[in-house]
Amino acid sequence: MKLSKIAQTVCPSPTLSMAARVAAMREKGIDIIDFSAGEPDFDTPECVKEAAKAALDENFTHYTAYAGITELRQAFADDLKQYGLEYTYENIVVSNGSKHALKNAFAAILDPKDEVIVPAPYWNSYIDIIKMCYGTPVVIKTKMSNGFRVTIDELKAALTKHTKAVLINSPNNPTGMVYSREELEEIGKFAVENDLYIISDEIYSRLIYSKKLLHCSIASISEEIKERTIVIGGLSKSYAMTGWRVGFTASNKALADAIANIQSNSTSNVNSIAQKAAVAALKNAKEDADAMLKQFEHRRDYIAQRISDIPFLSNLLPKGAFYLFVDVSKLLGESVGEYKIETAADAADVLLEKYNVAVVPSDAFGFENHIRISFATSMRDVVEGVNRIERFVKENF
Ligand SMILES: Cc1ncc(COP(=O)(O)O)c(C=O)c1O
Repeated sequence: MKLSKIAQTVCPSPTLSMAARVAAMREKGIDIIDFSAGEPDFDTPECVKEAAKAALDENFTHYTAYAGITELRQAFADDLKQYGLEYTYENIVVSNGSKHALKNAFAAILDPKDEVIVPAPYWNSYIDIIKMCYGTPVVIKTKMSNGFRVTIDELKAALTKHTKAVLINSPNNPTGMVYSREELEEIGKFAVENDLYIISDEIYSRLIYSKKLLHCSIASISEEIKERTIVIGGLSKSYAMTGWRVGFTASNKALADAIANIQSNSTSNVNSIAQKAAVAALKNAKEDADAMLKQFEHRRDYIAQRISDIPFLSNLLPKGAFYLFVDVSKLLGESVGEYKIETAADAADVLLEKYNVAVVPSDAFGFENHIRISFATSMRDVVEGVNRIERFVKENF
């Protein structure tokens, strides 16, 4: 009996594989500093937990409308107004996390042979989600010298008659890059001229570390760009709600209806209690989210400085999200004990096995010679983890 072609091509999530290695080592009693997880170490805000308890006590435990309760859909629409986006609840479909929102979005727009342009470094799941929706990812490798931004010339070179969509992710996982309004205008113009959809993953929209740099949603640039854009978002990262699984798509109504239909035949509604909790997050937890952002910023400043002070390592200052993307190319070709370090994955292996620090090598993000460090972990771990990385470099290179 054969597995489907899709089942044979889809890879396990590399970040989750690293998490499994960390768990196995911790079970053996090894003290691991885990810089691999892309999830806040904070607890979900109290008011959100209270809303969930109240929903349970009120027996809010039945099926809801499959696109989500109107109150939550409207709360997401209202939240997007801060970015100059005018949507109503009819444009929003609430999904099981933004990962599911992405799956819904691609399922709604892709036919076999359709291509999606994906700038790299990219968040690892995009490629497999596109494949699971019968599409073909076309990867463009951006350059560190260009701040990991995709250029219009690169987009033009990737265009074929099969191109259906372009995917952007700002703030970006894994680089922390944030596109400016002008850059997004150019990308939007390119999509309009070539009649492409834009999938805009804005899951990190609240996590930007500059008072001057505001998040810009590409959909806010013009009506014709908004018409062809599916905005992806969710609560996992900004509200410390990864386990609750609440995300959304925002799009024109025809697309939203199609996405809702797809969801109605797969997962139906998001957990009813999580939906009530999500309403509380959007309405009452902004201060908690801002407090977490402050902590992330403090860690970012510390870790970016410490890592760039270590010889042979270099990184750009992340403007958003909670990752540092570190160039390790100067370490390659050397040996550490029995390990020969040829790739970033080898460097990550030595860091884990000999220095007990877990990072994600950049092949997971369609890129070479880098490791991703997540600073969504406690300051104590940030300090200790950087000390270990410093020891790794100073003792061996
Ligand atoms: C860029 C990006 N998009 C989407 C997701 C999925 O998040 P969730 O499904 O928890 O909303 C992640 C998680 O790491 C991410 O980094």
